[in-house]
Amino acid sequence: MTESTLGVGILGAGPVTQAIHIPTLARLRDVLHIAHIMDVDANIAQSVAGRVGADWTTDVDELLADDRVQIVVVCSPHQFHAAQVIAACRAGKKAVLCEKPFAMNQSEAEEIAKVSIETGVPIIVGAMHTFDPGWLAAKDNWGDLVDIAHTIRYSIVLPPNSRFEDFATEIITRPVAQQRDRTDPEVAAGMMRGGIMGLAIHDLPLVRSFCPDFTDMEVLSAQVLSPSGYLVNLRIGDQNVQVRGVNTNSWRPEWIFEAIGDQVSLRIDFSPSYVQAGSATAVLRRGNRSEVYGPYSYNGYEGEWRYLAAVARGTADPLDVTILIDDLTFAVEVADRASEFVRNAMTAVGAAA
Ligand SMILES: NC(=O)c1ccc[n+]([C@@H]2O[C@H](COP(=O)([O-])OP(=O)(O)OC[C@H]3O[C@@H](n4cnc5c(N)ncnc54)[C@H](O)[C@@H]3O)[C@@H](O)[C@H]2O)c1
Repeated sequence: MTESTLGVGILGAGPVTQAIHIPTLARLRDVLHIAHIMDVDANIAQSVAGRVGADWTTDVDELLADDRVQIVVVCSPHQFHAAQVIAACRAGKKAVLCEKPFAMNQSEAEEIAKVSIETGVPIIVGAMHTFDPGWLAAKDNWGDLVDIAHTIRYSIVLPPNSRFEDFATEIITRPVAQQRDRTDPEVAAGMMRGGIMGLAIHDLPLVRSFCPDFTDMEVLSAQVLSPSGYLVNLRIGDQNVQVRGVNTNSWRPEWIFEAIGDQVSLRIDFSPSYVQAGSATAVLRRGNRSEVYGPYSYNGYEGEWRYLAAVARGTADPLDVTILIDDLTFAVEVADRASEFVRNAMTAVGAAA
């Protein structure tokens, strides 16, 4: 830490803080240092803070009152995000990073936006791939792909997170996954919503770049996958959109985004989240020519922290908060409609049996 580095305060010190943000911040010591860590569990707060030489507390207000904390990152469970982001804005911090999803519904999102505008405190949401240099290079070079792509496919095959978290660090306490009865329509609908708001939400902002107007969105099919996951086919305007995510016991994670037009196509392979494996690699194909962008030296998590530090220092423009609201509205629409589709389809099958 030096006089000139920005102090970070962390709310919630679970697996994401331990396995993603702390290792990422360790790579950015010339820009940022962790000043204070808060968790409702005192053991977690104390032991995680001890590893990085930060102060610890179980009280949000105590962390927010600490003047050394200039940037706040919200890594608590979803339901606390909105209130904590708002409190950090009201405490007059320089910037706030909120883990996805930054709100659970439209009205929370609008309230956050209102407070961000009123207080002038910029917010970014931890949709890390939107900061990945591979994605940004593709965006700078894809020309008219947004207008001509007719198919958007976004697929995640994810081995258990715990395997990667354990490589990254020794995790202190891990939540135990519950077994659920997927044959119950309500459970299946809940799993669909959870999958979209928990996992698919990462790259739905990327999908939305290709279909900014989603008012006529139609769910063509939606299924809960085995052992756990989701598969949703949508039609948005003239575009076919497929969103798929599955948790498996396989070894190799796969995280792919594709936008396909007749003459031009884009495929992006993102690097695994829990290892510092550089950026995504993007391949743009025009006829029989290919342009490859990446891999670059850092991933989207480091990208989001670099950007956040620049915003806090006033050397980068903050994001327009309405983009974050529209991204959240899109995710909530996909989640609500896909889960309703699953519930209706399973109830209809049950009634016919
Ligand atoms: N960007 C990513 O790649 C990524 C990956 C996984 C999860 N996430 C998001 O990060 C967030 C945290 O995920 P996690 O897996 O670490 O969650 P978790 O629920 O396992 O851990 C969260 C921690 O917050 C603590 N906590 C509970 N209530 C709190 C409160 N009111 N205030 C502060 N701390 C509180 C818990 O004690 C726990 O230590 C979630 O919103 C999740 O969606 C992001």
